[in-house]
Amino acid sequence: MRVHKIAAIPADGIGTEVIAAGLEVLAALAAQDGGFRFDVENFPWSSDYYLKHGYYIPEGGLEKLKTFDAIFFGAVGSQHVPDHVSLWGLRLPIAQGFDQYANVRPARVLPGVKSPLTDGQDIDWVIVRENSEGEYSGNGGRVHRGLPTEVGTETVIFTRVGVERIHRFAFELARSRPARHLTLVTKSNAQRFGMVLWDEIFAEVAVDYPDVKTDRELVDAVTTRMVLKPKSLDVLVATNLHADILSDLAAALSGSLGIGPTANLNPERKFPSMFEPIHGSAFDITGKGIANPIATFWTAAMMLEHLGEAKAARQLMKVIEAVTAAKIHTPDLGGTATTADVTRAVCETIRMDQAASV
Ligand code: IPM
Ligand code: MG
Repeated sequence: MRVHKIAAIPADGIGTEVIAAGLEVLAALAAQDGGFRFDVENFPWSSDYYLKHGYYIPEGGLEKLKTFDAIFFGAVGSQHVPDHVSLWGLRLPIAQGFDQYANVRPARVLPGVKSPLTDGQDIDWVIVRENSEGEYSGNGGRVHRGLPTEVGTETVIFTRVGVERIHRFAFELARSRPARHLTLVTKSNAQRFGMVLWDEIFAEVAVDYPDVKTDRELVDAVTTRMVLKPKSLDVLVATNLHADILSDLAAALSGSLGIGPTANLNPERKFPSMFEPIHGSAFDITGKGIANPIATFWTAAMMLEHLGEAKAARQLMKVIEAVTAAKIHTPDLGGTATTADVTRAVCETIRMDQAASV
């Protein structure tokens, strides 16, 4: 029996609702397969926890997390803590501390889901987001606070090691897909140092991947291409901030922010990787029981894949698609189903799958 040690960090807002749903689905899959099981430990680290203790991650917390095979993360962000405090208190220490430099964000219009684009069915992208440096390097400062002469700096850092490894990761991923097409997204017309470094290293790495078709797009121009010619894109590689923005657009074009999954990968597996829905805490619907759990289920499928459970990952994706096709949709997708309805439908379909295969 393969045992996968999972650290669940539901954290804030709808994070607690969708992670609970995700764990139910994972348990149903494990019960049905029989070849593996999950050993789940729940971590209470959240903004409420911070308000009580003064920190998100207690002393020794990261060391403890290191002993897990994967981290299943909900969302961080609260109306009672400034966003930059919560982000730098919880999610970034894990992503950066565990060198999860490759952030993978697939986007596809699932069956039964309506895209705002008429040719939405053509969306089949993976956005590869550099996740360890760039605009999220945390390098800056404030001086002369409150004075008219006040200055704030936010210096973007790109390193050769950081840029080369994300390009290599993106090329490998592009190579594994049927279209074998990688688009480099930068802004090297206006930003003539770091972004030109990105372009140059991309060209160097491309030499090792003659079987991958490449092209380049400026970040502003790629937004119009995503909307007007979705089929012309396959895998995109972009900086931390550019890809953050593009992945929200990708999720909206795929029908809802409630669908988009993410993997924060440490590809060398020196540290555990972290899996999370991209939607965030969503205070407006927290506690109403109507959060769309599909992003978390899709995220769980990515986690299964990473844990070596490819068969279960494929099965879960098929089940998710059967449930979206049956229009068991939460309000963000125009339906009236609750989180529990969607979760129940997914778990029942998993069990029916088992009954059919006995
Ligand atoms: C994301 C989110 C985060 C980010 C927020 C919560 C800081 O938008 O994962 O896309 O910008 O990285
Ligand atoms: Mg974002």
